[in-house]
Amino acid sequence: MPPPSTSAPRVRQADFRFRCIGCGDLSESASQDFRCAQCGDLLEITYPRWKEAKPSAENLKSAWSQRRLSPNPIDLSGVWRFRDLLPALDPPGNGPQVITLREGNTPLYELPQCARIIGVPRLLAKHQGTNPTGSFKDCGMTVAATFARHAGSRWVACASTGNTSASMAAYAARGGMRSLVLVPEGKISWSKLSQALDYGAVTCQLRTDFDGCLRLLQELVRRAPVYQLNSLNPFRLEGQKTLALELLEQLDWQPPDHIIVPGGNLGNSSAIGKALLEMRDLGLISRLPKLSVIQAEGANALVRTMRETAGKRLVSVQAETRATAIRIGNPASWKKAAHVLEATGGACDEVSEVEIAQAKAEIGSEGIGCEPASAVTLAGLKRLVKQSFVKPEESVVLILTGNLLKDPDFTIEFHRGELFKGSAEASAKLDPLRRAPIVLDAALDAVMRTLEQAEKS
Ligand code: F0G
Repeated sequence: MPPPSTSAPRVRQADFRFRCIGCGDLSESASQDFRCAQCGDLLEITYPRWKEAKPSAENLKSAWSQRRLSPNPIDLSGVWRFRDLLPALDPPGNGPQVITLREGNTPLYELPQCARIIGVPRLLAKHQGTNPTGSFKDCGMTVAATFARHAGSRWVACASTGNTSASMAAYAARGGMRSLVLVPEGKISWSKLSQALDYGAVTCQLRTDFDGCLRLLQELVRRAPVYQLNSLNPFRLEGQKTLALELLEQLDWQPPDHIIVPGGNLGNSSAIGKALLEMRDLGLISRLPKLSVIQAEGANALVRTMRETAGKRLVSVQAETRATAIRIGNPASWKKAAHVLEATGGACDEVSEVEIAQAKAEIGSEGIGCEPASAVTLAGLKRLVKQSFVKPEESVVLILTGNLLKDPDFTIEFHRGELFKGSAEASAKLDPLRRAPIVLDAALDAVMRTLEQAEKS
């Protein structure tokens, strides 16, 4: 690795600006830590030209739909297909410069059984777990990795609870860059770790939690020439925005009443909220869905921030949850998320470990499946219906963020009855959903008897 540079390389702009969410300062470039040079707050990307020359909603819709017929790699990407609302590379001519794995293009599924359990007429889930590395992170990573390479970076780096590192390592490899991963030792799923290893990342398991990894990364990017790809990087959020564009296109631009998303470091909720506000401002939709954020009870920094300070000051927590993807106590993008909650009128709530496990199994029973962090959305919806925040006749879309196979240990322990051992309350709720594997002699009789018993249950 070359020696650390004293003047960090700058990221150049094309037709966008970096705007500080704290003091509003506008700048054409950002330093490596992606923080405001004036006040240290986070940056977001804005498009000043939209003020004078707003893109026409009809033209955008028709261009996006025509690109679906194109065999061009940039059009086959469910992210770059929406490039009119993304930062442009300078010089323009996105095609060959883009690092893409055909991310996005994720399905919108009906969840009829879950809808029945909850008592709503219709429930939809947008499954980001069908992305190339199995999580929503790919939509942000294609954009941020492209800009990293464009800035001439040799090394990219992130702190992660697993999915960001898997995604970053894949896009870095495809783009010919080296990658450095910082993950909390023993606190992320082996599946996610194995992806980073396979894609060739230098993977460091640090004896700390995610928040400790992120703190260290932020110091590292000020000292070493590595380009940081956490969701502090506003290019990530621009890519993740397209999740909402694609969702609204799938719904023929008729906004649902509610969108529900899990909250960890709070980049994704911020990105979806930004997309909704931009879609409304550009006339792509006529009203805003309420965007609600759900956290695990043991990692409920945003819930407490909203409850105790009305979103004015972050309340950090010591995070603990088996939904390891969202085991985060000091979320970086809390201010952006608080803003979108307020702007869309969404709710912020928390769910217990048992509720998460139950919801995950219920989503699994639909033949879809997801990782534990994604299941907080269904568990949260149950609470929001009970509180009458979601009315029975309203339309709801859950954002499932990660694939079932991301955390097989959780699923196996659940079905074997090893999760929440000794808890009668958990047992009463979860036993009916458990399907432990059955070990038998290789005899037809034994299999027939098992089939008969299963038929009766
Ligand atoms: N769901 C999954 C599956 C995740 O991996 C994450 C975050 C979230 C939800 C929360 O999203 O952070 O944007 O609020 N995973 C990060 C990672 C932190 O490192 O993979 P968020």
